[in-house]
Amino acid sequence: MRIYLDNAATTPLDPEVFEAMKPFMLEDFGNPSSTHAHGRKVRAAIESARKKVAELLNCTTGEIIFTSGGTEADNAILVSAINTYKVKTVISSPIEHHAVEHTLGVLAKQGLIKLQLVNLDDKGHVDLSHLRSLLKENNSALVSLMHANNEVGNLLDLERVSGLCEEYGAYFHSDTVQTVGHYRHDLQKAKVHGLTAAAHKFHGPKGTGLMFIRKDKKIQPFVHGGAQERSMRGGTENVYGIIGLAKALEIAYRDMDEHIRYVRGLKARMIEKLKEQIPGILFNGDSENLDKSLYTVLNVSMPESEESDMLLFNLDLQGISASGGSACSSGATQGSHVLNALYPESKRGAVRFSFSKYNKPEDIDVAVKVLAELYKIPAQLG
Ligand SMILES: Cc1ncc(COP(=O)(O)O)c(C=O)c1O
Repeated sequence: MRIYLDNAATTPLDPEVFEAMKPFMLEDFGNPSSTHAHGRKVRAAIESARKKVAELLNCTTGEIIFTSGGTEADNAILVSAINTYKVKTVISSPIEHHAVEHTLGVLAKQGLIKLQLVNLDDKGHVDLSHLRSLLKENNSALVSLMHANNEVGNLLDLERVSGLCEEYGAYFHSDTVQTVGHYRHDLQKAKVHGLTAAAHKFHGPKGTGLMFIRKDKKIQPFVHGGAQERSMRGGTENVYGIIGLAKALEIAYRDMDEHIRYVRGLKARMIEKLKEQIPGILFNGDSENLDKSLYTVLNVSMPESEESDMLLFNLDLQGISASGGSACSSGATQGSHVLNALYPESKRGAVRFSFSKYNKPEDIDVAVKVLAELYKIPAQLG
């Protein structure tokens, strides 16, 4: 039996979610834009999914726009907010997901924005006093900072950063793809203007996500076409995806406390066992800090190991699926931009383990044992 410890890349679909989606794959196939009964039934289902999501995130239905996932949502908010508000300067960090980093990189290359990167402290957290000074120097900037880093798990204080952005009149976008469905977002408290989610990160289906656009900070559409999603995102809706997203979020909120307690316990177990069995193990970013990093992610480096690719390969051979960095680049040869930014002098290879409610404590024990065994055979590490 293989062990899956790559839940930050994607999570298995919850069977309850699948049951909710099934009727919309088979019987209820109408196009929600059709005005006949087939269409109206599906339209009603989409709107009730939107209502559910809005209730859970504590916002209004008009502020939720369904998308094809996190990448589209990040692109849409960044490009459209920059256009709508004639933003000249964007403040971001060197450890954003590529959906943000590459989007901003392209805009900067085209000369459309000036990109300023905020300093990070020695654990990889955003230096808030530097952020304040950047905001002071740049009027009406756009700030894009992720809520939780997908590689090392570092968490950002969304309420504090949104307060700072408000103070300096900045538009605040946060990539919350790793935290929606894992933490209770209250969008009346955290005054972020645009945030993003992807259902497959919380046991929903792939290819479906959302963006929240605060009603007093509206932006122009990004995907042009039909009048779907209140003309904010053209294209026939991914109906069963949307139904699955709402169901997955409902389950996540229903079981949130127990879920956090359980998964956090798995992470704590792995930290303890790794320290016990692999002396000199390093925890990347602030991954070891249970309060300041995602409870679903643990990012480690083997002492003096420069061969993370071989290590991952060997773990894979031993039946353990983990990742070397972000999912999107785990098959690529170039190193992680996050670890490069955090440890520019080091060639340390990293392994990201990420957990879900479907993992068992024994999965952790087996993974640590395999890692310890692999580590004791340097020849296998190249
Ligand atoms: C932080 C973060 N942002 C954005 C994305 C992209 O989401 P999607 O794969 O749904 O496009 C991911 C997925 O890995 C992510 O972890």
